[in-house]
Amino acid sequence: MKDGRTVVVRRATEDDADALMRNINEVGAEEEWILTERITNSVKQEREWIRGFDDENSVLYVAEVGGRVVGQVDVRIAAFRKARHVANLGIAIIRAYRGIGIGRILMERALAWMKMRSVEKAILEVFSTNTRAIALYEKMGFATEAVRKRHYKIRGQYVDDVHMAKWL
Ligand SMILES: CC(C)(COP(=O)(O)OP(=O)(O)OC[C@H]1O[C@@H](n2cnc3c(N)ncnc32)[C@H](O)[C@@H]1OP(=O)(O)O)[C@@H](O)C(=O)NCCC(=O)NCCS
Repeated sequence: MKDGRTVVVRRATEDDADALMRNINEVGAEEEWILTERITNSVKQEREWIRGFDDENSVLYVAEVGGRVVGQVDVRIAAFRKARHVANLGIAIIRAYRGIGIGRILMERALAWMKMRSVEKAILEVFSTNTRAIALYEKMGFATEAVRKRHYKIRGQYVDDVHMAKWL
């Protein structure tokens, strides 16, 4: 990473359930970045969720620093046949590990997986206020396709829902 430490990116296993649950709840509690605010506190349910990523239609990667899971990216190819060329991407890194290059590394891994699975179009949604995320996506070649105006309200402020895409 930019600070000289090493980040390991690997597919999530069920043993990551506890850490992933905690991380998403932590990022969710910040309210500003992702739609999810709180996920299950059931490790069993989280394990099931992880098991659902089959490496064919979907994949979940984690970023690990010093043995700690600090970030994740998930990719899902659209279920409908008419949209099978499209895959949706979601990414989250816990606060203390942002801004040191993990986002770019996870995005590169996710995009490489999509290419391997012959996905043609990567898509994602981001809050218009999330300038860091938008900067990263643009650097990775994503462009804005559509904006749903004032689609969310975060702490009383309207926020646009930005739809971005990258053709692979
Ligand atoms: C958004 C997120 C995934 C980005 O990952 P990150 O590891 O913090 O970002 P990186 O350190 O890889 O930086 C990505 C690039 O954007 C640049 N960048 C970062 N913040 C920026 C900003 N505010 N303006 C412009 N560029 C910025 C970096 O310089 C870097 O470019 P480089 O690789 O050419 O040096 C991460 O911050 C995160 O998980 N945030 C909270 C959850 C979230 O917002 N998820 C996305 C929801 S759509």
